[in-house]
Amino acid sequence: MDAQNLCVKPRTNSLFLGLVFSLALVASFANAEIHYHQFIVQETQLKRLCQTHNRITVNGQFPGPTLEVRNGDTVVVNVLNSARYNVTIHWHGIRQMRTPWADGPAYVTQCPIKPGGSYTYRFIIEDQEGTLWWHAHSRWLRATVYGALIIYPKLGSPYPFPKPNQEIPILLGEWWNRDPISVLKQALFTGAIPNVSDAYTINGQPGDLYKCSAQGTVRFHVGSGDRILLRIINAALNQQLFFAVANHKLTVVAADASYDKPFTTSVLMLGPGQTTDVLLTAEQAPGRYYMAARAYATGQNTPFDNTTTTAILEYKSSNKGASSRPILPPLPAYNDTATVTAFTTQFRSPYRVEVPTKIDHNLFFTVGLGLVNCTPGPRCQGPNNTRFAASMNNVSFVLPRRTSLLQAYYQNIPGVFTTDFPPVPPIQFDYTGNVPRGLWQPTFGTKLYKMKFGSTVQIVLQDTAIVTTEDHPIHLHGYHFYVVGQGFGNFDPRKDAASFNLIDPPQRNTIDVPVGGWAVIRFVADNPGVWLMHCHIDSHLTWGMAMSFLVENGFGEMESIEPPPADLPPC
Ligand code: C2O
Ligand code: CU
Repeated sequence: MDAQNLCVKPRTNSLFLGLVFSLALVASFANAEIHYHQFIVQETQLKRLCQTHNRITVNGQFPGPTLEVRNGDTVVVNVLNSARYNVTIHWHGIRQMRTPWADGPAYVTQCPIKPGGSYTYRFIIEDQEGTLWWHAHSRWLRATVYGALIIYPKLGSPYPFPKPNQEIPILLGEWWNRDPISVLKQALFTGAIPNVSDAYTINGQPGDLYKCSAQGTVRFHVGSGDRILLRIINAALNQQLFFAVANHKLTVVAADASYDKPFTTSVLMLGPGQTTDVLLTAEQAPGRYYMAARAYATGQNTPFDNTTTTAILEYKSSNKGASSRPILPPLPAYNDTATVTAFTTQFRSPYRVEVPTKIDHNLFFTVGLGLVNCTPGPRCQGPNNTRFAASMNNVSFVLPRRTSLLQAYYQNIPGVFTTDFPPVPPIQFDYTGNVPRGLWQPTFGTKLYKMKFGSTVQIVLQDTAIVTTEDHPIHLHGYHFYVVGQGFGNFDPRKDAASFNLIDPPQRNTIDVPVGGWAVIRFVADNPGVWLMHCHIDSHLTWGMAMSFLVENGFGEMESIEPPPADLPPC
């Protein structure tokens, strides 16, 4: 990808080229620029796995358009909803300083854009560089509504690593042969686990190892000796993924749009929502090499899609012809937590960072599944006549319907939410042990946790063994945070706090809480607004594994949220 091209680059999809509507005007504003784009959310025919499907896309493209901007630029995206579902777009990882109205989660910061409606998202990139992405944030539309958001350094600023000859965005996705919205509807009706996907995808294509799919396999042509920056995004709906490239080592240089101390690995693991930038040097014998991704699955007795998606790294000088079979990289076993731990514990910030040490809000949140007892029948298809649920601190999050949380706060509308989200679990128990059945059922509520502007926050995220221990990718909107520690079992403040990394912990926006373990994050609440925190596995989010922070305004304009845009959609 060309670093000089700062506009939407329509992916060429020969079938639908005529439908591509990419308005990309670039206006000069001092050094920073303003990027205008139009996203038309529409129904599009996509041919995958031997069939033609109608799916929701942006501008007829799947994956959607790549946004390329520089640190300091302004992004203005007009979203026109020409589809039959309500929709919103979220700019995953963008801090949205003072512009929570542009964040996007449906019923949290805005009411959804109704069919026929439109809304313009406007935000500034402030001190962020690297790979992020955008996706629909209403029901399961993000299954096909997503794209890369690449932030280059300011003009004249170099990368903190050797300049790559080529940059390639790699979007890992998840594909259902059934309409994902009907998969979701069925699960919401029955209360059971939603159907697993039929394929994973790399840049929208399942690849050679699936039926009728070889023709569409994505190929990347590289020159011998080239240094290539792969910007990898896990856009899958419900699955953590391993990723590797045959015969090539990968040097990690950044994650979630924060640079890291470089380290070399042969395999990556990304939770849904996470991004990882790696350098790869094309120094192997000229030929064809698979890049491949498949599940890292940690739930016990939990069904998952065990297929493998591939794309091909093809040396330009390769004389072996397009027919030679590429080499497949070895991938870890589906439940190989040891490999995941060895990988994730290597992340460090590149230099000493300022981690808050005096903590105003010391929070402890359990994250886990639950089961709600119900009257036997078609709506109680979970284990032993139950419905699946999920919660944080035993509260299963319920979205409002009449208005968004942010509007309710801003306009003082009573009765929409309460601010009594518990700072610690209502009952202490052996979280990762044998949890008594009486503690399996969560309560439901729209509870926010309120904080003053500038508060320092620590959150211990603790997995539970309710139904099953499982690895949960927890994402915080409006912020990034330092990951100061992680481990297995129950977090022990006396013992575990001693091993925190307060020198150079990595900064992220999505942390994979280890299966049957815990992770500790810290940040300063310097961005006023209502900010969702949730598991980025959409089936868990659907079940209520979420909560929201309400960060009050500080003093003056620069510490207060901007007024809502005039075209904010009504509910
Ligand atoms: Cu990428 Cu609330 O999500
Ligand atoms: Cu989860």
